[in-house]
Amino acid sequence: MRNAMDRVTLTDLDYIERLHEPLSGVFAKMEEQGAAEHIPIVGTAVGRALHVLVRATGATRIVEVGTAIGYSALWMASAMKGGDIDTIDPDRTRTDRARALWSEAGVGARIRVHSGKALDVLPTLGGPYDLAFIDALKPEYLRYLEHCVRLVRPGGLIVADNVLWSGRVSGSAPDDRPDDTRALREFNAAFVRHAALDATILPIGDGLAVGVRR
Ligand SMILES: C[S@@+](CC[C@H](N)C(=O)[O-])C[C@H]1O[C@@H](n2cnc3c(N)ncnc32)[C@H](O)[C@@H]1O
Repeated sequence: MRNAMDRVTLTDLDYIERLHEPLSGVFAKMEEQGAAEHIPIVGTAVGRALHVLVRATGATRIVEVGTAIGYSALWMASAMKGGDIDTIDPDRTRTDRARALWSEAGVGARIRVHSGKALDVLPTLGGPYDLAFIDALKPEYLRYLEHCVRLVRPGGLIVADNVLWSGRVSGSAPDDRPDDTRALREFNAAFVRHAALDATILPIGDGLAVGVRR
């Protein structure tokens, strides 16, 4: 089925980005570090979308799976009117850097790092959360989802990044990561038809799954 998205070009996406103020301060620093060191942080468009989703929902309790150097958490924390973020990542080298960068941005007090594997940490969290953001190991996305369904309150959001996986999931690009691709296909099918969610996939960045907890 074809629709208006077929007409969106890279020029259109550049245009949208140029409408915004250029990134500055810690946001720009994180993007530079991520690019220079090939750290897989969310794209700018997804960061902006997370910011707007947090504002729209008034989220004050957020759980994030996959911290890295703290870029997506910074977008969400800077949109919060209060409250805090629990973010999970076993890589202390990255999360120590995230902490320093969050302090520099003035949001350090709002973010708590859980240094462990998500499947070990998620069962220890109580919730309820207003928003969960999934951005770690692709073969584990489905299991993260079931924890997030338990943890997010009715009306809250579950969001997951990379669900189009640079065209591999739809088959529009060669599949050099078949295990991740298979897992994401399973995740996407489960997510959009989940009995506990009203959900869809927004074709921004590398694909952003967004579901409202019923
Ligand atoms: C895509 S990056 C996260 C990027 C971050 N959300 C951002 O946009 O700024 C994925 C992160 O997941 C972390 N990770 C790896 N295994 C994990 C696990 N079992 N549980 C949670 N995080 C994990 C990696 O260390 C990595 O930093």
